[in-house]
Amino acid sequence: MPAANSAILALAESTTRAPSKALEHAMLKVSRVYKFFKARDSSERGVRAMKVLDDISLDVGRGEFISLLGASGCGKTTLLRIMAGLLRPDRGSVHVNEQPVQAPRRDVCMVFQNFGLLPWRSVLSNAAFPLELDGVNRGKRESIAAEYLGLVGLSGFERHFPHELSGGMQQRVGIARALVRKPLILLMDEPFAALDAQTREKLQEDFLAIWNQLKTTVVFVTHAIDEALVLSDRIVVLSSRPGRVDRVIDSPVSQYRIGGDVRARLEFAEQAHDIRELLRSERTA
Ligand SMILES: Nc1ncnc2c1ncn2[C@@H]1O[C@H](COP(=O)(O)OP(=O)(O)OP(=O)(O)O)[C@@H](O)[C@H]1O
Ligand SMILES: [Mg+2]
Repeated sequence: MPAANSAILALAESTTRAPSKALEHAMLKVSRVYKFFKARDSSERGVRAMKVLDDISLDVGRGEFISLLGASGCGKTTLLRIMAGLLRPDRGSVHVNEQPVQAPRRDVCMVFQNFGLLPWRSVLSNAAFPLELDGVNRGKRESIAAEYLGLVGLSGFERHFPHELSGGMQQRVGIARALVRKPLILLMDEPFAALDAQTREKLQEDFLAIWNQLKTTVVFVTHAIDEALVLSDRIVVLSSRPGRVDRVIDSPVSQYRIGGDVRARLEFAEQAHDIRELLRSERTA
């Protein structure tokens, strides 16, 4: 992974982690959030309110890497969209850097499972797109985009189009595009789920190195226990629908994750087993 240049290091300085006091002023604070959707009733004609999120509270410290882990349909994407200001909770609130979230913010960026690239635009123009929306002039936005494409290992591919890239490379563009605005918080919705196992591990490793360099606060949604353990400081296990915070687990291997093979550690296997049992008891409850 190429070394960061000055602008990237400036971002790292502006978002430096403060581990001991991380939660005194949470970068992201979710307080008693409830969300209901209308669901069609199978027995009657009509709709009923379906509770999807049930009293979710969560503090994420500056520079922390948190994973949301839970069964399909438990409300992970819904919670992420509420954090992003794309959806309003029915009750409760979300604060970013102590400010209430009522609409999408420029400094909270998302990475999606399906990459979401514009197929008619080059890699460079895709990565620069958020800055184009912000009215940044072409020279400047392309230079920033090129810098972040370098950070994700895509130097030399700026003029390619998405269909000319592998899935892993497309998601690297998705990550660069999310980083060009120098976000305070990165929200990632199963970003590596569509990739094969080897590509996924490589992207996990490379993304961890980027996170370690930039110290951005990350909320990462995943189905995969091993992915949550490899990446996170803490893992928030959600119950099946309605999603509730079932347990918050400090990863026992987080201090070894940069540049090490945490999957080979005994603590990794033990914790993975415990989480699997927890999710299994959820399914049968
Ligand atoms: N806009 C919507 N209108 C109605 N119901 C919705 C809407 N969005 C989500 N739901 C329902 O809310 C529940 C939670 O959906 P959500 O997409 O948040 O789950 P998820 O945990 O992200 O699942 P997966 O792991 O499969 O992505 C599901 O039952 C879904 O059908
Ligand atoms: Mg989802």
